[in-house]
Amino acid sequence: MNKSRELRLARRMERLGTETAFEVLVKARALETKGRDIVHLEIGEPDFDTPANIIDAGCDALHKGFTHYGPSAGLPQLREVIAQYVSETRRVNVSPEEVVVVPGGKPIIFFSILALAEEDDEVIYPNPGFPIYESMINYVGAKAVPIRLREEMDFRLDVDELGGLINDRTKLIILNSPQNPTGGMLTKIDIERIAAAIGGRNVMILSDEIYSRLIFEGEHHSIMSIDGMKDRTILLDGFSKTYAMTGWRMGYGVMPVDLATHVARLMTNSNSCTASFSQIAGVEALRGPQESVDKMCAEFEKRRDVMVAGLNKIKGFSCRLPKGAFYVFPNTTKTGWPSKKLADALLDEAGVAALSGTAFGDFGEGYLRFSVANSIENIEKAIERIDKWTKENL
Ligand SMILES: Cc1ncc(COP(=O)(O)O)c(C=O)c1O
Repeated sequence: MNKSRELRLARRMERLGTETAFEVLVKARALETKGRDIVHLEIGEPDFDTPANIIDAGCDALHKGFTHYGPSAGLPQLREVIAQYVSETRRVNVSPEEVVVVPGGKPIIFFSILALAEEDDEVIYPNPGFPIYESMINYVGAKAVPIRLREEMDFRLDVDELGGLINDRTKLIILNSPQNPTGGMLTKIDIERIAAAIGGRNVMILSDEIYSRLIFEGEHHSIMSIDGMKDRTILLDGFSKTYAMTGWRMGYGVMPVDLATHVARLMTNSNSCTASFSQIAGVEALRGPQESVDKMCAEFEKRRDVMVAGLNKIKGFSCRLPKGAFYVFPNTTKTGWPSKKLADALLDEAGVAALSGTAFGDFGEGYLRFSVANSIENIEKAIERIDKWTKENL
Protein backbone atom coordinates (compact mmCIF):
# COMPACT_ATOMS: atom_id res chain seq x y z
CA MET A 1 0.00 0.00 0.00
CA ASN A 2 1.28 3.50 -0.84
CA LYS A 3 1.47 5.37 2.42
CA SER A 4 2.88 8.58 0.98
CA ARG A 5 1.28 11.66 2.44
CA GLU A 6 -0.47 14.19 0.28
CA LEU A 7 -1.31 17.59 1.73
CA ARG A 8 -5.04 18.12 1.31
CA LEU A 9 -5.57 21.73 2.30
CA ALA A 10 -9.00 23.23 2.73
CA ARG A 11 -9.89 25.11 -0.46
CA ARG A 12 -10.25 28.40 1.38
CA MET A 13 -6.47 28.41 1.97
CA GLU A 14 -6.05 29.18 -1.75
CA ARG A 15 -7.76 32.49 -1.09
CA LEU A 16 -5.60 33.55 1.84
CA GLY A 17 -3.01 36.19 0.94
CA THR A 18 0.03 37.36 2.86
CA GLU A 19 2.11 40.35 3.84
CA THR A 20 5.05 40.69 1.46
CA ALA A 21 7.10 42.75 3.93
CA PHE A 22 7.97 39.59 5.83
CA GLU A 23 9.01 37.77 2.63
CA VAL A 24 11.24 40.63 1.50
CA LEU A 25 12.80 40.73 4.97
CA VAL A 26 13.67 37.03 4.69
CA LYS A 27 15.18 37.55 1.23
CA ALA A 28 17.17 40.58 2.43
CA ARG A 29 18.48 38.63 5.44
CA ALA A 30 19.52 35.77 3.14
CA LEU A 31 21.55 38.26 1.05
CA GLU A 32 23.14 39.54 4.26
CA THR A 33 24.27 36.07 5.26
CA LYS A 34 26.07 35.97 1.88
CA GLY A 35 27.96 39.10 2.94
CA ARG A 36 25.84 41.78 1.20
CA ASP A 37 25.16 45.08 2.93
CA ILE A 38 21.43 45.86 2.79
CA VAL A 39 19.60 49.00 3.90
CA HIS A 40 16.29 47.84 5.37
CA LEU A 41 13.41 50.07 4.37
CA GLU A 42 10.87 47.30 3.91
CA ILE A 43 9.43 46.55 7.31
CA GLY A 44 6.77 48.58 9.07
CA GLU A 45 7.99 48.71 12.61
CA PRO A 46 9.57 51.49 14.64
CA ASP A 47 13.31 50.95 15.06
CA PHE A 48 13.13 52.50 18.55
CA ASP A 49 13.13 50.51 21.78
CA THR A 50 9.95 50.27 23.82
CA PRO A 51 10.14 53.14 26.37
CA ALA A 52 11.83 52.06 29.62
CA ASN A 53 8.83 52.80 31.88
CA ILE A 54 6.77 50.32 29.82
CA ILE A 55 9.47 47.65 29.89
CA ASP A 56 9.76 48.09 33.68
CA ALA A 57 6.00 47.72 34.07
CA GLY A 58 6.08 44.51 32.00
CA CYS A 59 8.98 43.03 34.04
CA ASP A 60 7.32 44.02 37.28
CA ALA A 61 4.08 42.37 36.13
CA LEU A 62 5.96 39.12 35.42
CA HIS A 63 7.43 39.18 38.96
CA LYS A 64 4.01 39.91 40.41
CA GLY A 65 2.54 36.80 38.81
CA PHE A 66 0.82 38.12 35.68
CA THR A 67 1.91 34.90 34.03
CA HIS A 68 -1.50 33.23 33.88
CA TYR A 69 -4.54 33.22 31.63
CA GLY A 70 -6.78 36.26 31.86
CA PRO A 71 -10.29 37.01 30.53
CA SER A 72 -10.62 36.61 26.74
CA ALA A 73 -11.71 40.22 26.21
CA GLY A 74 -8.76 41.56 28.23
CA LEU A 75 -7.88 42.44 31.82
CA PRO A 76 -10.50 44.77 33.34
CA GLN A 77 -7.87 47.35 34.37
CA LEU A 78 -6.62 47.66 30.77
CA ARG A 79 -10.10 47.73 29.24
CA GLU A 80 -10.94 50.54 31.63
CA VAL A 81 -7.86 52.59 30.69
CA ILE A 82 -8.47 52.03 26.96
CA ALA A 83 -12.11 53.09 27.34
CA GLN A 84 -10.95 56.33 29.01
CA TYR A 85 -8.25 56.92 26.37
CA VAL A 86 -10.63 56.40 23.44
CA SER A 87 -13.35 58.49 25.12
CA GLU A 88 -10.89 61.38 25.42
CA THR A 89 -9.18 61.10 22.05
CA ARG A 90 -12.32 60.44 19.98
CA ARG A 91 -14.64 62.59 22.10
CA VAL A 92 -17.21 59.82 22.59
CA ASN A 93 -18.39 57.87 25.60
CA VAL A 94 -16.79 54.44 25.60
CA SER A 95 -17.39 51.84 28.31
CA PRO A 96 -14.94 49.00 29.13
CA GLU A 97 -17.51 46.44 27.86
CA GLU A 98 -17.04 47.85 24.37
CA VAL A 99 -13.30 47.16 24.42
CA VAL A 100 -11.72 43.87 23.33
CA VAL A 101 -7.96 43.52 23.88
CA VAL A 102 -6.21 41.27 21.36
CA PRO A 103 -2.61 40.31 20.47
CA GLY A 104 -1.83 43.21 18.08
CA GLY A 105 -4.00 45.27 15.78
CA LYS A 106 -4.17 42.54 13.16
CA PRO A 107 -6.54 40.20 15.04
CA ILE A 108 -9.18 42.95 15.03
CA ILE A 109 -9.06 42.86 11.22
CA PHE A 110 -9.18 39.06 11.27
CA PHE A 111 -11.98 38.78 13.82
CA SER A 112 -14.16 41.63 12.49
CA ILE A 113 -14.15 40.22 8.98
CA LEU A 114 -14.62 36.66 10.23
CA ALA A 115 -17.52 37.70 12.46
CA LEU A 116 -19.32 39.88 9.92
CA ALA A 117 -18.62 38.92 6.31
CA GLU A 118 -19.54 35.83 4.32
CA GLU A 119 -20.47 34.76 0.80
CA ASP A 120 -22.75 37.25 -1.00
CA ASP A 121 -21.51 40.08 1.21
CA GLU A 122 -19.36 42.89 -0.13
CA VAL A 123 -16.58 44.58 1.79
CA ILE A 124 -15.13 47.87 0.56
CA TYR A 125 -11.45 48.40 1.35
CA PRO A 126 -8.70 50.88 0.42
CA ASN A 127 -6.37 49.95 -2.44
CA PRO A 128 -3.45 50.43 -2.25
CA GLY A 129 -3.91 49.37 1.36
CA PHE A 130 -2.75 47.06 4.12
CA PRO A 131 -2.77 43.65 2.37
CA ILE A 132 -4.44 41.78 5.20
CA TYR A 133 -7.81 43.44 4.45
CA GLU A 134 -8.05 41.97 0.96
CA SER A 135 -6.59 38.66 2.10
CA MET A 136 -9.17 38.21 4.85
CA ILE A 137 -12.13 39.35 2.76
CA ASN A 138 -11.21 36.74 0.14
CA TYR A 139 -10.57 34.12 2.81
CA VAL A 140 -14.09 34.33 4.22
CA GLY A 141 -15.54 34.13 0.70
CA ALA A 142 -16.96 37.66 0.59
CA LYS A 143 -16.47 39.97 -2.40
CA ALA A 144 -13.52 42.35 -2.02
CA VAL A 145 -14.48 45.74 -3.49
CA PRO A 146 -11.49 48.08 -3.76
CA ILE A 147 -11.79 51.83 -3.41
CA ARG A 148 -8.85 53.31 -5.28
CA LEU A 149 -6.71 55.84 -3.44
CA ARG A 150 -5.39 58.38 -5.89
CA GLU A 151 -2.15 60.30 -5.71
CA GLU A 152 -3.74 63.46 -7.10
CA MET A 153 -6.04 63.44 -4.04
CA ASP A 154 -3.05 63.01 -1.71
CA PHE A 155 -4.26 59.41 -1.32
CA ARG A 156 -7.46 60.37 0.50
CA LEU A 157 -10.36 58.39 -0.85
CA ASP A 158 -12.85 59.91 -3.25
CA VAL A 159 -16.10 59.98 -1.29
CA ASP A 160 -18.27 60.23 -4.41
CA GLU A 161 -16.62 57.08 -5.73
CA LEU A 162 -17.15 55.37 -2.38
CA GLY A 163 -20.84 56.34 -2.48
CA GLY A 164 -21.09 54.64 -5.88
CA LEU A 165 -19.65 51.38 -4.49
CA ILE A 166 -22.06 51.06 -1.57
CA ASN A 167 -25.08 48.87 -2.30
CA ASP A 168 -27.47 46.50 -0.50
CA ARG A 169 -24.83 43.79 -0.30
CA THR A 170 -22.25 46.04 1.39
CA LYS A 171 -21.66 44.67 4.88
CA LEU A 172 -18.49 46.41 5.92
CA ILE A 173 -16.39 49.41 4.85
CA ILE A 174 -12.74 49.54 5.88
CA LEU A 175 -11.11 52.91 6.45
CA ASN A 176 -7.48 53.50 7.38
CA SER A 177 -6.14 56.91 8.37
CA PRO A 178 -3.25 57.73 8.60
CA GLN A 179 -2.80 55.21 5.85
CA ASN A 180 -0.37 52.41 5.15
CA PRO A 181 1.28 52.48 2.58
CA THR A 182 0.63 56.04 1.32
CA GLY A 183 0.70 58.17 4.49
CA GLY A 184 -2.56 59.75 3.30
CA MET A 185 -5.02 61.12 5.83
CA LEU A 186 -8.77 61.63 5.79
CA THR A 187 -9.87 65.17 6.64
CA LYS A 188 -12.75 66.06 8.94
CA ILE A 189 -14.83 66.90 5.89
CA ASP A 190 -13.96 63.55 4.27
CA ILE A 191 -15.10 61.71 7.39
CA GLU A 192 -18.34 63.70 7.56
CA ARG A 193 -19.02 63.04 3.89
CA ILE A 194 -18.30 59.32 4.31
CA ALA A 195 -20.82 59.18 7.17
CA ALA A 196 -23.35 61.00 4.97
CA ALA A 197 -22.69 58.61 2.06
CA ILE A 198 -23.42 55.66 4.33
CA GLY A 199 -26.55 57.41 5.55
CA GLY A 200 -29.06 55.17 7.27
CA ARG A 201 -27.75 51.92 5.72
CA ASN A 202 -27.08 49.00 7.99
CA VAL A 203 -23.35 48.91 7.24
CA MET A 204 -20.48 48.50 9.71
CA ILE A 205 -17.20 50.40 9.45
CA LEU A 206 -13.83 49.05 10.46
CA SER A 207 -11.75 52.13 11.15
CA ASP A 208 -8.09 51.19 11.32
CA GLU A 209 -6.48 53.99 13.32
CA ILE A 210 -3.27 52.22 14.31
CA TYR A 211 -1.18 55.24 13.16
CA SER A 212 -3.39 57.82 14.91
CA ARG A 213 -0.52 59.14 17.05
CA LEU A 214 2.00 59.36 14.20
CA ILE A 215 0.82 62.51 12.44
CA PHE A 216 2.99 65.29 10.99
CA GLU A 217 0.38 67.63 9.58
CA GLY A 218 -3.23 68.22 10.56
CA GLU A 219 -5.25 66.35 13.15
CA HIS A 220 -6.55 62.85 13.44
CA HIS A 221 -10.26 62.46 12.75
CA SER A 222 -12.19 59.32 13.54
CA ILE A 223 -15.55 58.38 12.05
CA MET A 224 -16.42 57.18 15.54
CA SER A 225 -16.63 60.83 16.63
CA ILE A 226 -19.42 61.63 14.15
CA ASP A 227 -22.90 61.73 15.63
CA GLY A 228 -24.69 58.43 15.16
CA MET A 229 -21.62 56.55 13.83
CA LYS A 230 -20.26 55.04 17.04
CA ASP A 231 -22.86 52.26 16.92
CA ARG A 232 -21.62 51.21 13.52
CA THR A 233 -17.90 51.56 14.07
CA ILE A 234 -15.24 49.07 15.02
CA LEU A 235 -12.24 51.16 15.97
CA LEU A 236 -8.88 49.43 15.64
CA ASP A 237 -5.95 50.86 17.56
CA GLY A 238 -3.02 49.45 19.43
CA PHE A 239 0.39 49.74 20.98
CA SER A 240 2.70 48.38 18.23
CA LYS A 241 3.35 51.60 16.36
CA THR A 242 2.67 54.27 18.99
CA TYR A 243 4.88 52.79 21.71
CA ALA A 244 7.26 50.70 19.58
CA MET A 245 5.74 47.52 21.03
CA THR A 246 5.41 45.33 17.92
CA GLY A 247 6.81 42.26 19.65
CA TRP A 248 4.59 42.55 22.73
CA ARG A 249 1.52 41.80 20.58
CA MET A 250 -0.96 44.28 21.95
CA GLY A 251 -3.90 45.89 20.22
CA TYR A 252 -7.59 46.45 20.71
CA GLY A 253 -10.93 47.03 19.12
CA VAL A 254 -13.72 49.28 20.38
CA MET A 255 -17.11 48.18 19.10
CA PRO A 256 -20.78 47.85 20.09
CA VAL A 257 -21.18 45.48 23.06
CA ASP A 258 -23.23 42.92 21.10
CA LEU A 259 -20.39 42.51 18.59
CA ALA A 260 -17.71 42.64 21.32
CA THR A 261 -19.08 39.46 22.91
CA HIS A 262 -18.68 37.61 19.60
CA VAL A 263 -15.18 38.95 19.02
CA ALA A 264 -14.29 37.87 22.57
CA ARG A 265 -15.65 34.43 21.68
CA LEU A 266 -13.32 34.32 18.68
CA MET A 267 -10.51 35.16 21.11
CA THR A 268 -11.57 32.27 23.36
CA ASN A 269 -11.48 29.98 20.34
CA SER A 270 -8.08 31.14 19.11
CA ASN A 271 -5.70 32.79 21.58
CA SER A 272 -7.65 32.35 24.85
CA CYS A 273 -6.36 35.77 25.89
CA THR A 274 -3.67 38.38 25.25
CA ALA A 275 -0.49 37.89 27.35
CA SER A 276 -1.31 39.15 30.85
CA PHE A 277 2.03 40.90 31.54
CA SER A 278 1.82 42.67 28.16
CA GLN A 279 -1.55 44.05 29.20
CA ILE A 280 -0.17 45.45 32.46
CA ALA A 281 2.59 47.11 30.41
CA GLY A 282 -0.20 48.49 28.21
CA VAL A 283 -1.77 50.22 31.22
CA GLU A 284 1.56 51.96 31.85
CA ALA A 285 1.89 52.85 28.14
CA LEU A 286 -1.43 54.72 28.12
CA ARG A 287 -1.22 56.17 31.64
CA GLY A 288 2.51 56.95 31.88
CA PRO A 289 4.54 59.79 30.34
CA GLN A 290 3.94 60.34 26.62
CA GLU A 291 7.12 62.26 25.70
CA SER A 292 8.63 59.25 23.97
CA VAL A 293 5.72 59.17 21.50
CA ASP A 294 6.25 62.81 20.58
CA LYS A 295 10.01 62.30 20.26
CA MET A 296 9.58 59.29 18.01
CA CYS A 297 7.06 61.15 15.85
CA ALA A 298 9.39 64.16 15.48
CA GLU A 299 12.21 61.82 14.44
CA PHE A 300 10.01 60.11 11.84
CA GLU A 301 9.11 63.53 10.46
CA LYS A 302 12.78 64.46 10.00
CA ARG A 303 13.47 61.17 8.26
CA ARG A 304 10.42 61.54 6.05
CA ASP A 305 11.70 64.95 4.93
CA VAL A 306 15.16 63.56 4.10
CA MET A 307 13.69 60.57 2.24
CA VAL A 308 11.16 62.57 0.20
CA ALA A 309 13.67 65.30 -0.73
CA GLY A 310 16.21 62.63 -1.72
CA LEU A 311 13.75 60.61 -3.81
CA ASN A 312 12.53 63.70 -5.65
CA LYS A 313 16.06 64.25 -6.97
CA ILE A 314 16.25 60.76 -8.46
CA LYS A 315 15.50 60.23 -12.14
CA GLY A 316 12.06 58.71 -12.67
CA PHE A 317 10.91 59.15 -9.04
CA SER A 318 8.41 61.68 -7.71
CA CYS A 319 7.16 61.63 -4.16
CA ARG A 320 4.47 63.48 -2.21
CA LEU A 321 4.98 64.42 1.40
CA PRO A 322 3.00 61.91 3.50
CA LYS A 323 1.03 63.45 6.36
CA GLY A 324 1.24 60.56 8.82
CA ALA A 325 2.53 57.02 9.57
CA PHE A 326 6.16 56.21 8.73
CA TYR A 327 6.16 55.35 5.05
CA VAL A 328 6.81 57.20 1.82
CA PHE A 329 5.16 56.09 -1.41
CA PRO A 330 6.94 57.49 -4.47
CA ASN A 331 5.52 57.32 -7.97
CA THR A 332 8.02 55.41 -10.12
CA THR A 333 6.09 55.16 -13.40
CA LYS A 334 8.59 57.44 -15.15
CA THR A 335 11.35 54.86 -14.57
CA GLY A 336 9.49 52.69 -17.08
CA TRP A 337 9.94 49.70 -14.77
CA PRO A 338 7.05 47.72 -13.28
CA SER A 339 7.03 48.11 -9.47
CA LYS A 340 7.84 44.51 -8.54
CA LYS A 341 10.74 44.27 -10.98
CA LEU A 342 12.07 47.61 -9.73
CA ALA A 343 11.82 46.59 -6.05
CA ASP A 344 13.60 43.29 -6.84
CA ALA A 345 16.36 45.07 -8.75
CA LEU A 346 16.89 47.64 -5.98
CA LEU A 347 17.30 44.82 -3.46
CA ASP A 348 19.47 42.55 -5.61
CA GLU A 349 21.59 45.18 -7.33
CA ALA A 350 21.51 48.30 -5.14
CA GLY A 351 21.20 46.69 -1.69
CA VAL A 352 18.05 48.62 -0.73
CA ALA A 353 15.06 46.67 0.55
CA ALA A 354 11.74 48.32 -0.33
CA LEU A 355 8.30 46.98 -1.18
CA SER A 356 6.57 47.02 -4.53
CA GLY A 357 3.39 49.11 -4.48
CA THR A 358 1.60 46.00 -5.74
CA ALA A 359 2.22 44.35 -2.35
CA PHE A 360 -0.67 46.64 -1.31
CA GLY A 361 -3.04 45.74 -4.13
CA ASP A 362 -3.34 46.20 -7.87
CA PHE A 363 -3.67 49.97 -7.62
CA GLY A 364 -0.20 50.10 -6.09
CA GLU A 365 1.34 49.51 -9.53
CA GLY A 366 3.65 52.39 -10.40
CA TYR A 367 4.73 52.97 -6.80
CA LEU A 368 7.21 51.70 -4.20
CA ARG A 369 6.89 51.82 -0.43
CA PHE A 370 9.84 52.79 1.72
CA SER A 371 9.58 52.66 5.48
CA VAL A 372 11.48 55.45 7.26
CA ALA A 373 11.95 53.33 10.36
CA ASN A 374 15.71 53.54 9.90
CA SER A 375 18.37 56.14 10.76
CA ILE A 376 18.91 59.29 8.67
CA GLU A 377 22.40 57.98 7.91
CA ASN A 378 20.95 54.78 6.43
CA ILE A 379 18.22 56.67 4.58
CA GLU A 380 20.91 58.84 2.97
CA LYS A 381 22.86 55.72 2.10
CA ALA A 382 19.75 54.24 0.46
CA ILE A 383 19.14 57.42 -1.56
CA GLU A 384 22.73 57.41 -2.80
CA ARG A 385 22.48 53.78 -3.83
CA ILE A 386 19.16 54.21 -5.65
CA ASP A 387 20.48 57.32 -7.39
CA LYS A 388 23.59 55.46 -8.56
CA TRP A 389 21.52 52.48 -9.69
CA THR A 390 19.11 54.62 -11.71
CA LYS A 391 22.00 56.45 -13.38
CA GLU A 392 23.46 53.13 -14.44
CA ASN A 393 20.22 51.42 -15.45
CA LEU A 394 17.65 53.94 -16.70
C1 LIG B 1 -2.71 49.62 8.67
C2 LIG B 1 -2.26 48.59 9.65
N1 LIG B 1 -3.17 47.99 10.44
C3 LIG B 1 -2.82 47.06 11.33
C4 LIG B 1 -1.50 46.67 11.48
C5 LIG B 1 -1.18 45.56 12.45
O1 LIG B 1 -0.44 45.95 13.53
P1 LIG B 1 -0.01 44.92 14.68
O2 LIG B 1 1.45 44.66 14.50
O3 LIG B 1 -0.33 45.62 15.95
O4 LIG B 1 -0.81 43.68 14.52
C6 LIG B 1 -0.51 47.27 10.69
C7 LIG B 1 0.89 46.83 10.79
O5 LIG B 1 1.71 47.02 9.94
C8 LIG B 1 -0.91 48.26 9.75
O6 LIG B 1 -0.02 48.86 8.96
